[in-house]
Amino acid sequence: MNGKRILLWDLPTRLFHWLLALAVIGAMVSGQLGGNLMVWHGRLGIFIVGLLAFRLVWGLVGSTYARFIQFFPSPARVGAYLRGEWRGEGHNPLGAFAVFAFFGLLTAQAVSGLFSNDDIAFTGPLFSLVDKAASNRLTGLHHLLSNVLIALVCLHVAAIVYYGRVKKQSLLKPMVTGWKDGASGESARGGGIVALVIALSVSFALAYGASGNWMPPPPPPPAVSETPDW
Ligand code: HEM
Ligand code: HEM
Repeated sequence: MNGKRILLWDLPTRLFHWLLALAVIGAMVSGQLGGNLMVWHGRLGIFIVGLLAFRLVWGLVGSTYARFIQFFPSPARVGAYLRGEWRGEGHNPLGAFAVFAFFGLLTAQAVSGLFSNDDIAFTGPLFSLVDKAASNRLTGLHHLLSNVLIALVCLHVAAIVYYGRVKKQSLLKPMVTGWKDGASGESARGGGIVALVIALSVSFALAYGASGNWMPPPPPPPAVSETPDW
């Protein structure tokens, strides 16, 4: 095989991906089933907020191929890819569209969920910051986007299978092990411990903000007097 073996996806990027996939599938299932699972739906949603915040920062300070600038789908890159002239490692320019679509869609999905309500017993943790009409609109958006998300996940998995079966290019192995054989570039560099601490700090801070735990607890319901006043 031509080329060499390089480290393509660093461990934080791989952990991010597989935790995100599990959490999103869990959120889809718990959201559809509802009932007692809504508590877990909310927890998974806040976890997803933390994951997205982590990836946003990791896209700036992470290792080579995890950086947004490395795979941003500029017209020149997309053109080269379509002409079959793109030679790079990591997300190809078309795949990069799907990656950014995921980030945008998941952010809108999670943020709308924070303000949503199910008209029965469960509300997102930031529900009280908006009025009921706004919450209802965001709930409508939350429903709509969850369907778009299902379509994107199906397309995503179909694309990975297509690359493996038809183009004989396993994208899956590097996303599991980190390593890619027969590569033309260099191993990923950067994304050390300082970058990791910064990304984790932002991630925890945003997840805490999304959890609503910083808000004062709602006032207790008025006490019911044991003996009637009359
Ligand atoms: C990316 C993350 C999320 C995904 C994929 C997701 C997905 C879903 C799905 C599939 C439903 C059911 C929609 C339907 O019945 O058609 C739902 C409902 C709901 N979700 Fe999420 N959700 C996410 C994040 C969140 C977050 C962070 C919260 C708040 C903590 C939240 C709060 C709610 C609420 C309150 C409902 C009930 C709405 C209703 O029954 O009308 N979601 N979500
Ligand atoms: C709800 C489920 C999923 C979501 C939300 C999701 C999301 C993503 C995202 C955002 C990326 C970009 C990674 C990054 O740069 O941080 C990605 C890449 C990738 N995903 Fe998924 N994914 C899901 C399920 C899966 C599954 C089931 C597979 C296995 C077939 C898979 C295989 C891959 C691979 C191989 C890549 C790397 C693609 C490349 O080399 O350009 N994903 N996914």
